Amino acid sequence: MPNQPIKSVRRGRPIALVLTTAIGLMIASAPMSVPAITQWQHETMVNSPEYKQQYGFWEVLDLGANKELNTIHAALLPTGKVLLVAGTGNDRETFKKFHDEGKIEVLKTVVFDPTTNTTKPVETPADFFCGGHALLQSGKLLVAGGTSGYELLKGAVEKPAGKMSIHNEDPDSQPRLLKKGAKFTAPSGKQYVSTQEVMIEPATKIEMDGGATVHQSTAKVFVEAVEADVSYVTDQTEQYAIEGTTGTDKQNLYGRGGPMTLDKQDFRGDNQSYEFDPISEQYVKAGDLKESRWYPTLPVMTDGQVLAISGLDNTGTITETTERYNPDTKTWSWGPSQPFPTYPAMFRTDSPDVLFYSGSSAGYGPIDKGRTPGYWNTKDNSFKTVTGMTDPETLETSASVALPPAQGSNDGSQSTRIMVAGGGGVGESERVTNRTAIINLADPNPSFKAGPSLPDAVRYLNMTVTPWDEVFAAGGSSNYRAKENSYSYKAFSINPTTNQITPLANEVVGRSYHSGSLLLPDGRIMTFGNDPLYADKDNSIQGKFEKRIEIYTPPQLFTGSRPVLKQNDPIKATRGQTLAFESDNAATIRTARLIPPSSATHVTNIEQRSVAAIVKTDGSKVTVSLPNDVNVLPNGWYMLFLTNDKGTPSRAVMVHVN
Ligand code: CU
Repeated sequence: MPNQPIKSVRRGRPIALVLTTAIGLMIASAPMSVPAITQWQHETMVNSPEYKQQYGFWEVLDLGANKELNTIHAALLPTGKVLLVAGTGNDRETFKKFHDEGKIEVLKTVVFDPTTNTTKPVETPADFFCGGHALLQSGKLLVAGGTSGYELLKGAVEKPAGKMSIHNEDPDSQPRLLKKGAKFTAPSGKQYVSTQEVMIEPATKIEMDGGATVHQSTAKVFVEAVEADVSYVTDQTEQYAIEGTTGTDKQNLYGRGGPMTLDKQDFRGDNQSYEFDPISEQYVKAGDLKESRWYPTLPVMTDGQVLAISGLDNTGTITETTERYNPDTKTWSWGPSQPFPTYPAMFRTDSPDVLFYSGSSAGYGPIDKGRTPGYWNTKDNSFKTVTGMTDPETLETSASVALPPAQGSNDGSQSTRIMVAGGGGVGESERVTNRTAIINLADPNPSFKAGPSLPDAVRYLNMTVTPWDEVFAAGGSSNYRAKENSYSYKAFSINPTTNQITPLANEVVGRSYHSGSLLLPDGRIMTFGNDPLYADKDNSIQGKFEKRIEIYTPPQLFTGSRPVLKQNDPIKATRGQTLAFESDNAATIRTARLIPPSSATHVTNIEQRSVAAIVKTDGSKVTVSLPNDVNVLPNGWYMLFLTNDKGTPSRAVMVHVN
């Protein structure tokens, strides 16, 4: 068996019987849905060696009682283990326990080892639910942003609430930390409390000939009335006194807030950032974000710095600000402002300052702003749109992926093409598409061209780049958050060289909103999460978060031949270096691919991309020459897969390019 033995709730019926003719015929045709045949026939079919060799195999993992969590984020670490992050996991009760009762133990993170199917709980210091993740060049995982407030629909809001802007006019003061629960008093005497801790910097003083100008500093926070009483509603914007201030201090430090209403409240972001250390398996505090962010995208730039883009701030308003993380100082500084919807799909280009925005995003933001794909120069803040996207109104909840190099290529190239697939209209829209569109960033005037059509029109398709130069796609639903049980259980591979789509075994668990997928170091693919609005076809029963993880073993791992490298990882390497390996199956090896360990959330996984290295074999010797171009192979961690003439990859060797 190419993969580790796994405790599976799916397996259980040994296949020793001769297959019936009917089942034989089923295998020859495309995967079938369960109702078309009996459950027994289905189980027999999907467990047969012939079926696995053609369509692959899904296993639903059993992690054991009380060990499952609302996996919203998953990140592969350089150790080969996977960090599964829930935070408060889009669960209102859990959020209340954490936020109102201070029970930090309800926050969930685990380290999952896919080779043993074991999990280890990790102490989680903050609510990372709907934050962002980026694997730093050091191998530590940056986790930034998260949740400071849950959405409340109109009718559910009991305490009048609104935005408060805090002003400091004193340049000689120290930075002031206002704790969560700080009281703000309106001229009417009514009091409101802050829902989050907030820091206010001193005002700045600019000395000029003969005088000085003072620029007040401001910070913002969301406040709510001290009691659930409609008399706290006001449409006025007024000055508020901050509890604990008197005299001049009170004149210099104050709030300006209002209106205070019972209107719908959006989710609110948080400003924490941490580095998760994959060796000690602990979160280590880093500097706070300048802006709170819920649903930020965190692309790692070629120089190793990380941008934080988009997100809802701590008042529930989408932000156009961006900021930049310096891993050396572990601090954030402002970047240029540019409007994008939440979790925008951003790809590095061969110009270190320029990101390509594919147009995919994950659920919040104005309909008429920041939705057009294009190139964003993060230095001069220019934005150049590209044309050719069909169905541009259905980019929300679409999937974007950097396509692998040409199949079988052994020339040190990397694909410069980005594919966008599926998606829906903005918000709770009924629009959905089966469109794929491909842009080649190496073209002189790049524009999107139509790609192969998906088997179904779906939102929330999970796409995974594979070492055998195909994209593995699975899941999604035709309706917003899988309403009417509109899951597509289909999985298929997309060959970007021929544009051919090949059906694979159906997944067992439906996946839509709050789902993702990750390529594992052994060539298998993990899928996780799903957060449906409803649990039934009639939309009458409230949906439940899908805790089960599923792992797909592709046909390539059922060929009975797998290149084995006599090599312990991780290994250190430099760009342009030629690495030497020994392998008994050296003669079968055809390609070498470098794929970074990536982070996935909300069907967004921007770091996965595949770089071809040049592989040569001689007897039992295998040499792999790494590309020398920093824009193709920036510093950082990579999984090196050697793939044979049957498309079967070796287990990845972890390589740290530095
Ligand atoms: Cu979310």
